[in-house]
Amino acid sequence: MSQKAIAVLTSGGDAPGMNAAVRAVVRTGISKGMKVYGVKRGYNGLLNRDVEELNLRSVSNIIQRGGTVLYTARSEEYNTPAGVKKAADYCRDLGVSGVVVIGGDGSFRGARDLTGEGIPCVCIPGTIDNDIACSEYTVGFDTAMNTAMEMVDKIRDTAQSHDRCSVVEVMGRRCGDIALQTGIAVGAASILVPEIEYDLEKDVISRILENQQNGKKHFIIVVAEGVGKVNEIATYIQNRTGIESRVTILGHVQRGGSPTLRDRVVASEMGHKAVELLQNGIGNRVVAMKNGKIVDYDITEALNMKRVFDKNLYDIAHTISI
Ligand code: F6P
Repeated sequence: MSQKAIAVLTSGGDAPGMNAAVRAVVRTGISKGMKVYGVKRGYNGLLNRDVEELNLRSVSNIIQRGGTVLYTARSEEYNTPAGVKKAADYCRDLGVSGVVVIGGDGSFRGARDLTGEGIPCVCIPGTIDNDIACSEYTVGFDTAMNTAMEMVDKIRDTAQSHDRCSVVEVMGRRCGDIALQTGIAVGAASILVPEIEYDLEKDVISRILENQQNGKKHFIIVVAEGVGKVNEIATYIQNRTGIESRVTILGHVQRGGSPTLRDRVVASEMGHKAVELLQNGIGNRVVAMKNGKIVDYDITEALNMKRVFDKNLYDIAHTISI
């Protein structure tokens, strides 16, 4: 029987820990006697035949590196039936009988389609946003939050020195998890997230005014990217409270940097699990975390799940930021 071959790719926005997942896929695959190909720049690599066979040493010295050594992309050509078929045909030419896809839910849709064309795929949630409904954790989230926390701690030094209000935008287009956790960790006076409707007067201004009464002089407001309008919010605060306000948009700094221990370990576990599934001939799955354990779901079922925002934690944040 010919040697089984699998491929691994990273797709969508990069996230710290993707390299740890790639490393785990390669090493688990090779330890099970498989050939492992690394596909460059997401699904584009399957269209452009940009792949390379990886060996144990190809993934040395990457577990601690941010970004993705396989590069990443969002592919328009792949997002067509003809693109998916072309990618599947290339996998067959290469003898690849399974693909591990590391990315967010857009990447999962691509994996579902490739599975539909006869190439079983297993997905690993890799995105800093923690916005994958089926998994309580996504690779990259911990590193991003810690980066955001360190940045806001620095911002607080200057906000305090000037008795200012700092409005800080953190990443998260549709998901307020980075804002929520970072906001708690930095003691933000208010946290605004896309999942919860807000009223600037009630949720920001009155909190600032009340806290001013009890002696607080500088304020941190953390706003998720999906809420936006940070400049308007800062101007409104300054006009309504008289407190000089400044805006910082943290941006892509949150996507980079050496992954934390948590991201390295979760990525390693998920990478290992993905290969085990493919080895057992199981495809069309998403590896996920549930109650701290690694589990897996059907991709379509995973894509249909609804994310649940941690309202309890949000309420705690508001109770203690006084
Ligand atoms: O990785 C997710 C994310 O960071 C979002 O929070 C953000 O909106 C988006 O990616 C930006 O991605 P890019 O700049 O690569 O288009």
